[in-house]
Amino acid sequence: MPTGIDFSLLREQLAQAASRFDVDWLDCCDSTNTCLLARAEEGAASGLVVGTDRQTAGRGRRGRAWLATPGCSLTFSVLWRYPAQVQLQGLSLAVGVAVAEGLEALGARQIQLKWPNDIWLNQAKLGGILIETAPHGSLVIGIGLNLARDPNWEPMVTQPLITLEDAMNTVNPRETILASILRSLATTLDTFGEKGFAVFQQDWCRRNAFLGLPVCVKGERYEEYGICDHVTPEGALILRTEQGERLINHGDVSLRKQAC
Ligand code: BTN
Repeated sequence: MPTGIDFSLLREQLAQAASRFDVDWLDCCDSTNTCLLARAEEGAASGLVVGTDRQTAGRGRRGRAWLATPGCSLTFSVLWRYPAQVQLQGLSLAVGVAVAEGLEALGARQIQLKWPNDIWLNQAKLGGILIETAPHGSLVIGIGLNLARDPNWEPMVTQPLITLEDAMNTVNPRETILASILRSLATTLDTFGEKGFAVFQQDWCRRNAFLGLPVCVKGERYEEYGICDHVTPEGALILRTEQGERLINHGDVSLRKQAC
């Protein structure tokens, strides 16, 4: 299993986007998000990327753990700063679109998205996004992708998982995958900063993995059933319930195809 990163290959594959990112690669860390949050506090510049082969305390949404084992995953975080006036609603959905487009540029087909921030394929989870806010308005955008089956998954898995290896005949080197996602992310983050989520709404909706399906939406203290509809121009999920249309805004929501 390959570990580390070939920086010259990465730079070559990043092409023009190389000037937008400064990539640091660690053999091991607790969590690339945690590491980047600390660097943001020390004043690191927008565009710093920290990737790793192994996370010992990787974090997913809602306090879940996120495994990253050498060779099995692509695990990285990007530090980004926007001017204070930029509205961040829908950012994680736009990042999902960027990841999907980055993978499709390499030949992956039918990458879908599950609200709010899962990368989904063939009704299984291919990856996840965790965006956290650092001091002074910096954002840490964490992305984890399953590249190959991880033997450590079995006891931890609570939902169907899929890997890029399952989905594609040829799996590209990690440098190529990382570069393609970063290229796509640079354009997406620029556009989002100027125009917000609304311009990504259609791209998100046509990838909506659960469109028209019965779902359960779970918050910290509630759960609700309905039919999954599209998202609004602000990125809220439209849920059609027996009581009518509900807009789900809160980021802390889980979505399941089966009853919860
Ligand atoms: C989720 O699906 O719950 C979100 C998973 C996000 C995982 C990534 S891996 C890189 C970054 N570092 C972390 O600790 N988490 C994010």
